[in-house]
Amino acid sequence: MCGIIGYTGHQSVQPLLIDGLRTLEYRGYDSSGISILSRGKLKTWKAAGKLDSLVGQLPAKPSSGSTGIGHTRWATHGAPTDENAHPHTNNDGAIAVVHNGIIENADALKQSLAPHNIAFASDTDTEVLAHLIALAPGNTLTERVRHTLLKVNGTYGLAVVDANEPGVVVVARNGSPVIIGHGDNEMFVASDMSALARHTREVSHLEDGEMAKLTTKGCEISAIDDRLLHRTGQRSTIIPEEISQQYDRGGYEHYLYREITDQSETVRRTLGGRIDRRFNTAHLGGLNLDARELINLGRIRILGCGSAYYAGGAGADMIESLARIPCSAEPAAEFRYRNPVIERDTLYIVVSQSGETFDTLAATREIKRKGGRVLGIVNGVGSTIAREVDGGIYMHAGPEMSVASTKAYTSMLTCFALLALHLARIRDLSPQRGGALIDALDALPDLIEGALATEEKVITIAEQYHRVNSLFFIGRASACATAHEGAQKLKEISYIHAESYPASELKHGPLALISPETPTVVILPDDDLFEKSFASLAEIKARQGPAIVVTQSTDDRLNTTADAVINVPASDPLLHPIIMGIPLQLFAYHCARLLKRDIDQPRNLAKSVTVE
Ligand code: G6P
Repeated sequence: MCGIIGYTGHQSVQPLLIDGLRTLEYRGYDSSGISILSRGKLKTWKAAGKLDSLVGQLPAKPSSGSTGIGHTRWATHGAPTDENAHPHTNNDGAIAVVHNGIIENADALKQSLAPHNIAFASDTDTEVLAHLIALAPGNTLTERVRHTLLKVNGTYGLAVVDANEPGVVVVARNGSPVIIGHGDNEMFVASDMSALARHTREVSHLEDGEMAKLTTKGCEISAIDDRLLHRTGQRSTIIPEEISQQYDRGGYEHYLYREITDQSETVRRTLGGRIDRRFNTAHLGGLNLDARELINLGRIRILGCGSAYYAGGAGADMIESLARIPCSAEPAAEFRYRNPVIERDTLYIVVSQSGETFDTLAATREIKRKGGRVLGIVNGVGSTIAREVDGGIYMHAGPEMSVASTKAYTSMLTCFALLALHLARIRDLSPQRGGALIDALDALPDLIEGALATEEKVITIAEQYHRVNSLFFIGRASACATAHEGAQKLKEISYIHAESYPASELKHGPLALISPETPTVVILPDDDLFEKSFASLAEIKARQGPAIVVTQSTDDRLNTTADAVINVPASDPLLHPIIMGIPLQLFAYHCARLLKRDIDQPRNLAKSVTVE
């Protein structure tokens, strides 16, 4: 949510900033801007809309500066306009600030500036920082930023430049990621490792409450409140290989399509090295919990936001049904705001693609503060959540660029299948059944290929239904999370209204809306509950509702009852949620494509929500 980039060194900074913003654009894309220090002056360009609107305004011959900052925005305070785009400057334009987060006491801070007759140029909470820094006491930009931040309540990742201090970028963090990249006589900063990967592999993560001064000579990290002790010593880490490899659209029009069609490969990576045939279990070295600790678990609680929460729902079902440990999933924000009881024998699992989602991170901290143990299922290597949890499983799905999650969702479920197997084998799952599950997991990439092969059928269905106003998605038990995620994907990228329900709830309300104009997607796994799920299908058809069925079953009644049947490959029921989700991703994609939506960057959304 909002991308920040900054640089000081010897390269021409303008193309470097634009290139960085291009990589970060998925974090927010309602406006963007850059400020460049050149010959003792600060020049700022900003524009509402996608990054190309900004690029269109820039001088054809890049500005000569080699120090600068840039920002791509997802609006929190103030509409997405040119004025509200970052960087924000003070009245004489000497100080420029880019900010990710929310300044909670912005109004009070603005009022404190009343005697200075300042003309505010925007509706943002950020602009006040530029004015405060300009007026703050201190001989250096670092001192003035520190003085200002000590007055600020709220969250921030920020970068500041000052025309009077050429070659210096000051950065600070409280709640929003700031990653410093070390170069050769040059320094970089970004809110995301992916924007640094093409320039350097050596990075330092700023922690909350820290700030840093970047110059061509390196960086000096200190505590914002310098009365506090701050860390010393070597802190840089290496950007992992999977991030430094450039990930592009692979010749496709959309990242989303590439990410959907890459899933057999990404799941192969998630499974890599984790199948233990010797004991017919999963090898999960990062859990940092041995069998003696795991056998005593009384409960597992899973937390996440958006698709990560829905993946948690499917994961809870996998764990409870296979390992027989009570397990449930809850949205991370709801959990932390209801002052949860942290139980001694409960294991908490946070799920996050980015590893930076604010609410998931805040839940992690709340649990740890209360003495609970937290594992992470995370894709973002070295992300804040990955660094703060007690242990976990990396997804290794590689960078996910499209705002709507697909390959990360599938890898989350794959991690849960591995964890369920691992826990079940510690409890009472037999080696034989463990072996059968390992065979099933081994076959998973091929089964995903089989599910992707439904695409032609899915296109026909999308062509028939993409103009409807509303759809239902239903599923029973393990299929319920799949229904929720299927509806979520369709809403996010096609903007078609969709609602998801447990199939059993249909007759308690939503059935009133079933009509020939409102189709239902029925997730109908070939499992013990097949007949029950089939009954829900019959109820829909009895009310003339069109029904699209996703199933492994070849039961003849389906073809005569449903309007369309998407057949996915049969597998162990543990893997049904993984395989059955894939045609739903394709359905959402093709509806969105037919409706000419902005598929990779849907309106109002952002990939990584690093504000509350
Ligand atoms: C945003 C994205 C969703 C994502 C959610 C959680 O809302 O638009 O696609 O599922 O954040 O993100 P995370 O990175 O924590 O998985």
